[in-house]
Amino acid sequence: LILTLKRKRRMSLPGPRALPIFGNFFQIGGQAHISLTEMRKTYGDVFLIKLGMMPVVVVSGFETVKKVLGKQGEHFANRPNMYSFSLLANGKSMTFSEKYGETWKIHKKVMRNALRTLSKSDADSMNCSCRLEEYVCAEASDLVDTMQEMSKDHGSFNPSPLVILTVANVICALCFGKRYNHNDREFLRIIELNNEVQKVSGAGLLADFIPVFKFLPSKSLNELKKFTQTFNNFIAKSVQEHYGSHDQNNIRDITDALIKLCNDRNTTDKNYKLSNEQIIATVNDIFGAGFDTITSALLWCMLYLLKFPEMQEKIQKEIDEIIGTSRLPRFEDRKDLHYTEAFINEVLRHSSFVPFTIPHCTTMDTILNGYWLPKDTSVFINFFQVNHDQTVWKDANMFIPERFLDQSGHIDKSLMEKVFIFGMGVRKCVGEDIARNEMFIFLTTILQHFKLFKDSELDVDLTPVFGLTMKPKHFNIRIEDRI
Ligand code: HEM
Repeated sequence: LILTLKRKRRMSLPGPRALPIFGNFFQIGGQAHISLTEMRKTYGDVFLIKLGMMPVVVVSGFETVKKVLGKQGEHFANRPNMYSFSLLANGKSMTFSEKYGETWKIHKKVMRNALRTLSKSDADSMNCSCRLEEYVCAEASDLVDTMQEMSKDHGSFNPSPLVILTVANVICALCFGKRYNHNDREFLRIIELNNEVQKVSGAGLLADFIPVFKFLPSKSLNELKKFTQTFNNFIAKSVQEHYGSHDQNNIRDITDALIKLCNDRNTTDKNYKLSNEQIIATVNDIFGAGFDTITSALLWCMLYLLKFPEMQEKIQKEIDEIIGTSRLPRFEDRKDLHYTEAFINEVLRHSSFVPFTIPHCTTMDTILNGYWLPKDTSVFINFFQVNHDQTVWKDANMFIPERFLDQSGHIDKSLMEKVFIFGMGVRKCVGEDIARNEMFIFLTTILQHFKLFKDSELDVDLTPVFGLTMKPKHFNIRIEDRI
């Protein structure tokens, strides 16, 4: 009887009526963050949709999202069994496929520690505080040189391929201690692969939601399989090369840090529960996560700078006053460039280019806002809605960096934490610090050197191309030297 009552309670979750097989696909359309934000007005903070044949609970509203990721975080900490997730990292991904539990917690800690190694290890250059800073600043410096060449050769140009190569080089340096020439064929192949994987998975794979599609011929499914396999092989090859040249006393990168961990641990260690294969798959996760996200962030920053030239001038004034022109920006400048930091936070909030978390799933039966959700319920968390909620953000749809500054013109950290873009709680992004430092260095180095202009009379279009990470539509820039 109790079970029937519980089921009835779940049945009473509000939500739009679903079609057989296709569910609510057609109502949701191509801009899911907008349509699900609209639906919240009718159905509230917790409602049920069907994506194909998969029931999904959509969670919105600042307080409710905080409950799901914070107070009740452990209840919502799994990932659903999605077909596309099982293809990534041969099913060994901490991010997508491992089940939440003690071993998963150890794996996440291993990943966090591996990333930290690079922020702690000494740089070769006296001017940099750590190896991470050295890698990022070297790429930023190369980026401005290449922008200058492109401007000379073409006048206006599309910054996207260049930004992708730059960010990819940082993640290659972090993972494999190696930066590539922008014409290197192997490097270009990885980038192309990653783009394809993003395109295919961003479009949403029917096989994830309608199981029979796993067995039917499908171009996008075949592409995803082909690309993930090649990507997995590339990572495996790089790791193998590292085993050959590994020196326990000279940790060059994340792969080295992980190999050292495999070698050091003994059977009594807690982390022995992780297989070597799982530990090494960490590289795959970091590579995938740290690439597309930062690229999108930078492209969005550029687009907003074109849209609001007066804000560009304010950032340049701050750079001129605090950094000047005789040296390049460094991580430690972040604490002094308050307006620049406010601008970056407003780009993260306003664009909400990661509109949902990676899908979550309940680890146990639980109750949310009075609704009973059984174990293994898939949950989508709508960050876009929370970042545009009028009850949290005054004039939420306007772009106002100053909202992040307090009366003395300093960054208001408590407000920054209200922007949902890196997640929170047990499933929080492990790359937030790296991402924020990278965004800051690239943005300030570019603006220290150039004024950016749009290349047409048309108004800048902020409409995104929908995906796991949303990108701006194609745009070109013109630059003018400042130094
Ligand atoms: C997870 C955002 C950069 C590594 C996530 C999640 C979001 C996110 C929303 C999902 C949280 C959830 O499911 O609740 C971003 C944004 C970035 C960024 C906006 C850049 C602007 C990075 C970088 C790295 C990274 C640079 C690594 C170097 C990860 C990993 C996870 C993750 C490993 C999975 C965590 C888990 O499943 O527990 N990120 N991320 N991210 N991110 Fe990031």
